[in-house]
Amino acid sequence: MLREPDISTEALTGRRIVLLGYGNQGRPQALNLKDSGLDVAVGLREGSGQCSQATADGLPVFSPEEACQWADVILFMMPDEAIPAAYEAYVLPAVADEKARYIGFAHGLCIASSWVVPDPRLGVFLVAPKAQGRGVRDKFLAGSGVPGLVAVHQDPSGDTEALALAYAAGIGCGRVGVFKTTFREETECDLFSEQVLLCGGLSAMITAAFDTLVEAGYSEEVAAFECLYEVKLLGDLLHERGIDGMRTAISPAARFGDVTRGERVIDGHVRENMRAVLAEIRSGQFAAELKADAEAGSPKVAAALEATQQHPLTQTYRRLLTMIQPK
Ligand SMILES: NC(=O)c1ccc[n+]([C@@H]2O[C@H](COP(=O)([O-])OP(=O)(O)OC[C@H]3O[C@@H](n4cnc5c(N)ncnc54)[C@H](OP(=O)(O)O)[C@@H]3O)[C@@H](O)[C@H]2O)c1
Repeated sequence: MLREPDISTEALTGRRIVLLGYGNQGRPQALNLKDSGLDVAVGLREGSGQCSQATADGLPVFSPEEACQWADVILFMMPDEAIPAAYEAYVLPAVADEKARYIGFAHGLCIASSWVVPDPRLGVFLVAPKAQGRGVRDKFLAGSGVPGLVAVHQDPSGDTEALALAYAAGIGCGRVGVFKTTFREETECDLFSEQVLLCGGLSAMITAAFDTLVEAGYSEEVAAFECLYEVKLLGDLLHERGIDGMRTAISPAARFGDVTRGERVIDGHVRENMRAVLAEIRSGQFAAELKADAEAGSPKVAAALEATQQHPLTQTYRRLLTMIQPK
């Protein structure tokens, strides 16, 4: 693990950095880089709703084409499915001028799945902060940062890793810890944890637990409190203390239920499913499905979001949150 003062923003001094996109990650990262004293600008499409925000934040805004011509270091801060077309349209034309250029990603998917096969003249790196964008900015403003993963895919100029570490320092990851990885490891582990645990697994488990209580005749409000509302309390405990620390903090009855029932629910069959999901990620099947759905206008995602809206848990939880707002 690396952290300040072993790493600093020095390798980026005098380099022009541009972030293509100003959303969840783009805005917090751009603001942190600016506050770290670096030369940073934003590249946005014509008609972008983010233009006025970036300008109000004191950042120069260019068209993506101009931004890539201007910059030495170009970061993709847009949805992963949009990156291949942006690379072709904005970055490739700029590479022709023979200036040493670098492209950076906040997630490894485009490189790991070969959606982007970068020009060999480009340095290619990954800086993946281990937090949502809001956390990246809030922690930075509080004088801290979030951990980050750094990787290099290709390095024609010999200094791509130094640049990546400087970028990680610039967004605040150097204040807490930077870990070296590969594009492939970051991508596969990140997708896997999102699918089986953090997003897919947790949502499915919460819904199944809620449905089980309601089917057994319990009230929707109490079921939503127990199965969804309290997830944050346990999530915070797990984050701060780990599984063993959580177990010492909960009541004896909760602890006994935890250690005697948890693995009956997440049994060998669930572990088999997890291995199958991992295999789909590693074979490229998941990336191919994601790309096909995005190209078709995301019908699978839209149908699932619609079903979630209609589920009694969503309706109950919305009602619950309004009812318990402090006066
Ligand atoms: N979200 C997270 O918490 C998180 C965490 C870690 C890593 N990451 C990674 O960070 C990267 C950015 O994700 P994000 O969630 O920050 O994205 P995002 O908020 O959805 O990005 C929005 C920005 O991307 C621009 N954009 C969208 N489609 C575009 C296109 N076709 N061409 C040009 N610009 C386009 C939008 O431009 P307009 O203003 O014109 O609409 C907007 O400024 C991804 O690689 C993601 O995997 C995200």
